[in-house]
Amino acid sequence: MKHNKNTQKNDSRLDRRGFLKSSSAIAGSAVALGSLSIERGAFAQSSDTIKVALVGCGGRGSGAANQALSTAGDVKLVAMADAFKDRMDGSLKGLQKNHGLKADVKEENKFIGFDAYKKAISMADMVILATPPGFRPIHFAEAIKQGKNVFMEKPVAVDGKGVRQVLAAAAEAKKKNLKVGVGLQRHHQLGYQEVIKRIQDGAIGDIVSARAYWNGGGVWVRDRKGFEQRAGRKLTEMEYQMRNWYYFVWLCGDHIDEQHIHNLDVINWVKGTHPASCQGLGGREVRTGIDHGEIFDHHAVEYKYPDGSYMFSQCRHIRNCWNSVSEHVQGTKGRATVSGPHALSGNDGKQTWRFSGGGKNPYQQEHDDLFDAIRNDKPYNEAFYGAHSTLTSVMGRMATYSGKMVTADEALNSEENTMPEVLGWEAAPPTLPDEDGRYTIPVPGRTRFA
Ligand SMILES: NC(=O)c1ccc[n+]([C@@H]2O[C@H](COP(=O)([O-])OP(=O)(O)OC[C@H]3O[C@@H](n4cnc5c(N)ncnc54)[C@H](O)[C@@H]3O)[C@@H](O)[C@H]2O)c1
Repeated sequence: MKHNKNTQKNDSRLDRRGFLKSSSAIAGSAVALGSLSIERGAFAQSSDTIKVALVGCGGRGSGAANQALSTAGDVKLVAMADAFKDRMDGSLKGLQKNHGLKADVKEENKFIGFDAYKKAISMADMVILATPPGFRPIHFAEAIKQGKNVFMEKPVAVDGKGVRQVLAAAAEAKKKNLKVGVGLQRHHQLGYQEVIKRIQDGAIGDIVSARAYWNGGGVWVRDRKGFEQRAGRKLTEMEYQMRNWYYFVWLCGDHIDEQHIHNLDVINWVKGTHPASCQGLGGREVRTGIDHGEIFDHHAVEYKYPDGSYMFSQCRHIRNCWNSVSEHVQGTKGRATVSGPHALSGNDGKQTWRFSGGGKNPYQQEHDDLFDAIRNDKPYNEAFYGAHSTLTSVMGRMATYSGKMVTADEALNSEENTMPEVLGWEAAPPTLPDEDGRYTIPVPGRTRFA
């Protein structure tokens, strides 16, 4: 692959021991940071208006802004940033329809382009980061530098360098007592909380293996031809990749990172740690069109945890196959369906417990919890486990692309740098098409990881 391989050793501040230590300290809890306020957070007056900025005004960013504006107390959307004006206009229209004056963003507070995030962040108490994940480490680091509370979508990075940046900014956020939520909303879903508590209390004994799946039909494709027809001109390569971001590793991380992270993260939560190594296979069977960029359509990865137990993971984007988005765990004394119906059974298959229902929509609950922490100055930092689960997905991709065994150490300290040197509409992205418009596809056994 034609990715930059810039050495970023100076950013590798977290050694393996520090990484594992922070991992076990934070895994499994949304509010696990032990120390209370070192200094006051960026906002902690329960009666004041919380000013929100939205960075990345697409489907999920608009949804997250909706949820933020629906939390208790005064909240106002004051600024927006997006790479494209049409995306921002569409988002604002929907938000104004739902929230009226709470989403009355002034013209001078709307920012477009690659640097737009800095200006929008500066106007808020709390920022929503919901661009494609390649930008997350830069945007998160800037928000923390500016002393802001953050809700950021998953995954939080697409490579080891990005994970290191996020872990460093997370530590900074902890020092500054800033509140950070990460869009791994299963942590705020009552059924998951209830079943995982029981598993961790020993209901099915010691965990010996787990299965995590995101097998489905796939996602949208934003085709070059359609955009060019509507625009009446050729797109630059950067514009095209930014529009069709799902299909490029530097923006998306491949679907094992962008989507399957949810399931990998659930098993990490159950285990209270993250895998130490993995190996796997993958490729593309049906994702062969001109707008399918460089990513795979299936990955199957065998992850090994430090205690020797395994997680078997599959993610597939192919229609008309067996579909399942779920997590299951096998223990010495029984089994758990961690995903719905959130149930436990003995090894004889007889159900011993089943979630009885209830709880809010987790997308709303995660914002309710974050805003409560901001208003009442409660410790809250989900960035650590968000970063560790991101690393789990990234190391899986490194294993399926290369066909090699990959350790968490290697993934975390990887020298791979997927971000372009220069961000601009005329600048070259790290992956370029050949004369037929095709991109280099990773080939296990030949593709190497840095
Ligand atoms: N938690 C969940 O269940 C869930 C669900 C869907 C998406 N997501 C996550 O949300 C993120 C966004 O996904 P989406 O579905 O909303 O995609 P999207 O394409 O609808 O939205 C992304 C937006 O970001 C903008 N953007 C791109 N680069 C930017 C930059 N440098 N600065 C500012 N704006 C930029 C795009 O123009 C677009 O408007 C992804 O990380 C995705 O994984 C999470």
